[in-house]
Amino acid sequence: MPSTHQVTLNAPLDMHLHLRDGEMLNHIASASAKTFSAAIIMPNLVPPVSSKEEVVAYKKRILSAIGQEDFTPYMTLFFKPSYDKAFLESVQNEITAIKLYPAGITTNSEGGVSGFDVEELRPALEAMAELNIPLCVHGETNGFVMDREAEFVSIYEKLATAFPKLKIIMEHITTKASVDALEKFENLYATITVHHLLITLDDVAGGMLQPHLFCKPIAKRPEDREALLKIALEGHPKVMFGSDSAPHPKHAKEACGCAAGVFTAPIALQLLVELFEKNDASLENLQAFVSGNAQNIYGVTPGNKKVLLEKKAFKVPADYKGVVPMYAEEEIAYSIKEITHG
Ligand code: DOR
Ligand code: ZN
Repeated sequence: MPSTHQVTLNAPLDMHLHLRDGEMLNHIASASAKTFSAAIIMPNLVPPVSSKEEVVAYKKRILSAIGQEDFTPYMTLFFKPSYDKAFLESVQNEITAIKLYPAGITTNSEGGVSGFDVEELRPALEAMAELNIPLCVHGETNGFVMDREAEFVSIYEKLATAFPKLKIIMEHITTKASVDALEKFENLYATITVHHLLITLDDVAGGMLQPHLFCKPIAKRPEDREALLKIALEGHPKVMFGSDSAPHPKHAKEACGCAAGVFTAPIALQLLVELFEKNDASLENLQAFVSGNAQNIYGVTPGNKKVLLEKKAFKVPADYKGVVPMYAEEEIAYSIKEITHG
């Protein structure tokens, strides 16, 4: 991307976002709603969003929290093996995808799946394939923390083979092993966060511990980050931007027992523009990564928000209503200059 000092992104999409609920939702929703046209909203509330009534009510609360912003929440349900075709048909118009968590693997995932028995999952996953509802997956085992994602690849392969018509999105991939799997199976897709394109484990724990960079999956090795960067920068058609922006109150992060999650929503697009420019990747590829690929994969047509960014230093605030963002109080190279619709 030439350093033209101004870049316009059309209809940016965040295909993996935590908006939370209650006061937190009201505080942080606008950070995403301002700059993105739409986002896939994660269902890991307490209790998880797992019925039609809950998803409809949660969408209402989100729309009320974003006020006048032109932003579409693409809703998801928390996967349960007991979902049957009649239920999925009844809820299909309210959701864009269903999110599967392995039991207990991350924040509020206790009610997730254990065992990954294909026959147990078959009725729900076949119905989803028939109804063309994508399955988003948090792909980690409960093994050694650095190996969890690579170990999960065999489960992705099992699911991709058993359900060839099911669109499976490998969420927030962090390893070369996942990038390799993506290339091997037609029905595997992936989201990548901006923080996993920028940091490795060294940034989290190589020096003084950085709680605001601690997330799940944990950032991995330099060669993993390189593999992620390569497919993001080339605008690989099976890869979408998904921030996994996951706010927690400052006291829950700066604590003994730090909550997992990096809050990037207010600076994600600025960081992506800087990253693509630094790596000489084309604006066309960035546009594919932040919108075009997701439109093709999910078959969605978002509202046409245009975000104009300029190369002008932006000092990231220390916090957004009690939530500390990535790079708090540091300068990043790009700022948002103007947002238009049309
Ligand atoms: O770091 C994370 N935070 N990873 C997840 O999978 C969940 C998320 C959250 O909800 O806080
Ligand atoms: Zn997440």
